[in-house]
Amino acid sequence: MRLLLTGGAVFRNGAFQPLDVAIDEGRIVAVSPALPWEGFSVIKVPDKLIVPGFVDVHTHLREPGFCYKETIFSGTAAAAAGGYTAICAMPNLDPVPDSLENLEVQLEAIRRDAKINVYPYGAITKGEKGETLADMEALAPYVAGFSDDGRGVQSRHMMQWAMKIAKSLNRPIVAHCEDESYLTGGWSVHDGDFAREQGLPGNPSISEWRQVERDIQLVVETGCRYHVCHVSTRESVALIRAAKARGLPVTCETAPHYLVMCDRDLQDHGRFKMNPPIRSAADRDALVAGLLDGTIDCIATDHAPHSAEEKGKGLRGSLNGVVGLECAFPVLYTNLVETGIVPLETILNALCVNPRRIFGLPGGSVAEHMPADLTVLDLNRPHVIDSGSFRSLGRATPFDGWGVGAAVAMTICGDIVYSNLEEDSETEGRQ
Ligand code: DOR
Repeated sequence: MRLLLTGGAVFRNGAFQPLDVAIDEGRIVAVSPALPWEGFSVIKVPDKLIVPGFVDVHTHLREPGFCYKETIFSGTAAAAAGGYTAICAMPNLDPVPDSLENLEVQLEAIRRDAKINVYPYGAITKGEKGETLADMEALAPYVAGFSDDGRGVQSRHMMQWAMKIAKSLNRPIVAHCEDESYLTGGWSVHDGDFAREQGLPGNPSISEWRQVERDIQLVVETGCRYHVCHVSTRESVALIRAAKARGLPVTCETAPHYLVMCDRDLQDHGRFKMNPPIRSAADRDALVAGLLDGTIDCIATDHAPHSAEEKGKGLRGSLNGVVGLECAFPVLYTNLVETGIVPLETILNALCVNPRRIFGLPGGSVAEHMPADLTVLDLNRPHVIDSGSFRSLGRATPFDGWGVGAAVAMTICGDIVYSNLEEDSETEGRQ
């Protein structure tokens, strides 16, 4: 298919330039002002932005094992609708990808059903149980990194051993940081004012940052590349900032809900429950500061779908996890960019440039000879987030009903994988 995107502004080298983009057989063949239309299906995208496809480095696709929550087909369709052309898939699956044989089950489903690029993580430990290392050597050629997401690796010795091996395999450790010794008696929200007022069991910040601190020391000892998942506390931000200042190979992500909400915004509904929890206003502000000064590299979604029943038991009884792929960009744009808190360029770097740099993924630049891997953004499309219209099988999001000002208009991953353009945008084969 030969496509020509015309009239948009292309995000290149941190700035926007008015350029047309020509695509042939899944590759970008020209990026230039006023390209000739002949022989192309022309798509008019006036006043829209053309950016490298987003990458979510933290998605739960649930297949194999939990297809009632999400499948590779539904999850990647949701990702495409959110502007993502690549995702890194977390390994809390059944079977857990802790051996080549188990990983092959997931790879087979990806080859069969994925609408966009999916890069799986291998598990750090067998069954994510924290007791014995996974077959990291066999997995390494096929995975973006190693993670036991959903659970922190409790043993320092086990993490040290994993980091030594990951370093020798040139793969990052992608860590869910959670020291379980600080979690007593169940937990559902941040251990702060809201928890105390509601009489809810609180999850203290130290459960996260103590393990970040431990692991940074292990990075010093091993030299392993280390990426911290879903950072939620100001103490973690400070530790990561200091590690980067020392030149350590440490990177991290946070998620939209930690950047734009605090525990004051919680309601007693499962769609406000995830792990780590949404923390205090001071934590939120520290995360934004970290995004602005480059401490936080990526904005990931931690898209974690569950069934309506699993999410229907309030803050106390629901499972942890919210969906995020289909509303991440509109929420970030409306609440951080339109408000003047974060420049658009910073958000785009965190969504599409830094993830590829950190994980060595292909694409990431709207330039000649590159794969056609791009997203068209409409910054003037007010709408209300309606989880009922999601492609994801999961519907629980704290952003349901929020008014937003921007939308993803089109996602191209080789071919068009999602389109939500106005009716008059396409002009087939005009000369
Ligand atoms: O809220 C969460 N849900 N946090 C995690 O770490 C795991 C995830 C899931 O798999 O549901």
